Order: sequence, then C-alpha cells, then structure tokens
Amino acid sequence: MQPQPTGSAGIGRGYAARLRAEPEVSTVALPPNPIPYRPFRPGLDATVASERFYRTMNARRSVRMFSDRPVSEETIRWICAAAGTAPSGANKQPWRFVAVSNPALKRQIREGAEHEEREFYGRKAGDEWLTDLIPFGTDEKKDFLEIAPWLIVVFKMMKTDEGGQVYYANESVGIAVGLLLAAAHHAGLATLTHTPSPMKFLGEILGRPDHERPYLLIPVGYPAADCVVPDIKRKPLDEILVVRA
Ligand SMILES: Cc1cc2nc3c(=O)[nH]c(=O)nc-3n(C[C@H](O)[C@H](O)[C@H](O)COP(=O)(O)O)c2cc1C
Repeated sequence: MQPQPTGSAGIGRGYAARLRAEPEVSTVALPPNPIPYRPFRPGLDATVASERFYRTMNARRSVRMFSDRPVSEETIRWICAAAGTAPSGANKQPWRFVAVSNPALKRQIREGAEHEEREFYGRKAGDEWLTDLIPFGTDEKKDFLEIAPWLIVVFKMMKTDEGGQVYYANESVGIAVGLLLAAAHHAGLATLTHTPSPMKFLGEILGRPDHERPYLLIPVGYPAADCVVPDIKRKPLDEILVVRA
C-alpha cells in the first residue's frame, strides 16, 4: 500500500483546489502544497504592540558578569526552538545550536576562548580596534564562560546534513541568533554574543562535523547581582531609519 498523505497535505490539496477555483486569487502564485496561513493576533493595536516590543528589547544589554544561578534545560530548549522559527534561504535552516552545561566542557571552551583572546589582545588587534574596545573594559579573561550555567554555541551549516546546498546561510543564521537573543531576554535571561576568533576550537571541543562552522558563542544565564554594563548609546531612530512615504 502507498503511504497515505498526511492530514495537512490532504487539507493542502483541497485548499489549493478551492483557491484556484476563486477567480480573484487565480493569478496568485501558489505553492504546490498550500495550507491556510493563520495570522498571529497580538490582541493589541499594532502600534501599541510594536511600541511594547521595542520597550522590551530596548532593555536588552550584552552582559559579561553572570550569576551561576541555574537555568533549566527546558528553558534553553524553548529559546533554541524560538531561534529555529527563523526564516532561512529556501527553508534550509542552516543552523545548529549546541547547548553546553557540562562543567568540563565549559572549562575547555573557556580555555580555548582565552587562548584566542590572548592572541587577539596581545598581538592581532590593531590600535583602532583596541581603542574602540576601551569603553567595554574587556580583556582576555573570560571567567563568565564557566560561571554562566549555559553556553549556546551556534554553528552555521555550510551544507545540509545530507550534503545538499544551503543558501544565504550567513543571513539566515544571523536572523536565528537575533530571535535567540530576543527569546532569552524575553525570559529574563542575559546573554553575550561572544566571538573569540578564530572559533575553530569550538567545533573540535564539541566534536562537530566539518560542514558546521562555529558562528557565535553565547553564554546564557541570570546576570550577577552586582552586574554593570558599559554606558553606551543606541543611535536615535532618525539616524537608522529613512522613511520614503
Ligand atoms: C557579532 C558580534 C560580536 C561580538 N563579539 C563580542 C565579544 O567577542 N566580546 C564581547 O565582550 N562583546 C562582543 N559583542 C557585544 C558588543 O560589544 C555589544 O553588542 C555592543 O557593544 C552593544 O551593546 P549591547 O549589546 O549591550 O546593546 C559582540 C556583538 C556582536 C553583534
């Protein structure tokens, strides 16, 4: 017996036929397997909803002082699930999130990161870069990589697991990370987008295959009780937005 179509594929075919029969939508390009789009309704006026989201996100900061207060694996799973809802080129979803709470692995990752950061601060970074970093007070010490309860290591897939092509992987993974940071923030957690470069050591420590390239190292946890952040300013909207109404 042939495998039966799934429920949604069956619904899709009937739905497509109905749509194609509608004269007013007959010129719209339809996917071969359409399903009804279910709009998200925030239950608020769009302006109010978008202002609220802005206020939530405007409170996000990169944190470099973490508490060791535990965060459940389930929380991390939901956060990564949110990241996995990102759009991606041809829906290839070219991301892998490796969530690490194992203390021995965290130590190895810290050691690897501090090794690269010693090179960076001591030798590789030019004067302009080092000057630009002064406001952050950062250096090669990364104790937060062992203190934060979780490290989410984001990998960009250069091929699918089956060896097929991926498209716009950089853009796709960048969007996914944006959602991940927003999801963690929305849960009351702090993050840092950390880029100890080069990041090859992350793939080696975590035993990832060659087609996965380390993209970002993101500690996730609660901020330390005495956490401070640099006093930096965000560009005003009229500097980042051009409206051509
Ligand atoms: C791609 C990227 C790489 C970053 N790399 C580092 C890093 O290696 N170490 C660090 O302390 N902060 C790093 N940051 C954090 C930035 O310094 C921070 O996002 C910026 O100063 C704005 O501050 P905010 O995130 O609190 O708004 C990075 C941010 C991005 C987006």
